Amino acid sequence: EVGLVSNLDGISGFDPKATNLKRSDFATDFAFGVATAAAQIEGSAKVGGRGPSVWDHLVEKHPEKIPDGSTLDAIDSYRRYKEDVKMIEELGVNNYRFSISWTRILPSKYFFIKLQFWDYSEICFKTFGDRVKNWITINEPLVIAKFGHDLGITPPCRCSDRKLCSEGNSATEPYIVTHNLLLAHATAVELYRNKYQTKQLGKIGLSLVGQYYEPYSDSEDDKLAAKRAMDFDLGWYMEPLVFGEYPQIMKQIVKQRLPSFSIEEKKLVKGSFDFIGVNYYTTRYAKNIPIDFQAPPISAIADRFTTESTSKNGSFIGPKAEGSIFIYIYPVGLEKILVFMHENYQKPIIYITENGVAEKRNDSLPLTVSLKDPFRISFIRQHLYRINKAMQRGVNVKGYFHWTAADDIEWGEGSIPRFGLYFVDYKSNLTRIPKLSAKWFQGFLQGN
Ligand code: NOJ
Repeated sequence: EVGLVSNLDGISGFDPKATNLKRSDFATDFAFGVATAAAQIEGSAKVGGRGPSVWDHLVEKHPEKIPDGSTLDAIDSYRRYKEDVKMIEELGVNNYRFSISWTRILPSKYFFIKLQFWDYSEICFKTFGDRVKNWITINEPLVIAKFGHDLGITPPCRCSDRKLCSEGNSATEPYIVTHNLLLAHATAVELYRNKYQTKQLGKIGLSLVGQYYEPYSDSEDDKLAAKRAMDFDLGWYMEPLVFGEYPQIMKQIVKQRLPSFSIEEKKLVKGSFDFIGVNYYTTRYAKNIPIDFQAPPISAIADRFTTESTSKNGSFIGPKAEGSIFIYIYPVGLEKILVFMHENYQKPIIYITENGVAEKRNDSLPLTVSLKDPFRISFIRQHLYRINKAMQRGVNVKGYFHWTAADDIEWGEGSIPRFGLYFVDYKSNLTRIPKLSAKWFQGFLQGN
């Protein structure tokens, strides 16, 4: 367990050579940054005319879904933004990935994804495009489709398996959701390219969940199951974006429940990115499960007839992050997913738009202990080392954004996971204090 290990460098799968990695092993124009998201840091949810988002609705109506009762006040960055930007500047990164709250821009009560998204995008390009040079349209559409419309965990909490969730849907809905998200993304890209890109000299893309799958065993069945899992996660988005079609295996299995692209839609979606953002945290094993093709679908996730596992014969794929329910630390998976992207999707330009690890909030620890996070230093070093290796193998990676700047609010887990390079003192006016990792990262960026 990470919480018990002071330095991850000794763990198998971790390469001791990573310790020698230097800033100069990356090109000078390689972007180093940190990433945040409005809903997770801002607070002031009802200030300045901001309207409610689907997330606010969940927090207000179902507070039991957030275990520590964290409110929408988050870490108050709406009011402390100057201080926060200064903190990031001091860290020495020269890039910052942040989000512009949709319901601050358009506080409308109703949510019409394609039309409203177009308006929101247009306002953002027009207002901020002279300064924002890299746009990400949508973050992790897979999570919206899978957690919001199949597992019923995040808003709007729709669920294919009626036993799990009262808001029933069918195993068709997640596919329609993804189809519309791809169209919304591509429409914004078309708008940017036609009206703003040449003038503003910017780039545009989107960020995808970069979960990698290792076959559970050497059997042909498990190898195919791992490939299927990749196709149903990453391929679900990358194949339309690169080839204008859903993966062949999805068409074969999901059949008429999978929407198809009209000729116009295909033209719109294919090639609708300058770069791809990859949010990499973890890898899982994939194991084949036999399926009765005649049985009605239970959920979109079950469609790929693959089970996921983090352990094999009692041993985990990597050490578990103490404060996060889903992160098993496996830096090799990052190199593998980058090579997978390069080989399967025509060598895209990639930014690691998120990568990070959490410790568990424990208010009874003395501050000096809370600030010591050597595991995070190892974590960053090992992942940067894998990025570097992937680049040596030809993958076109342009930047790394650590998740996240200061401890924040994690979806469905509140303030329990501490993901920050900076510690937020919840007991003392939300003061931000650099953890050991922040100092290390600063030194790394300065070439030490
Ligand atoms: C991905 C999401 O984009 C971000 O919002 C979240 O906090 C991190 N993963 C950590 O779970």
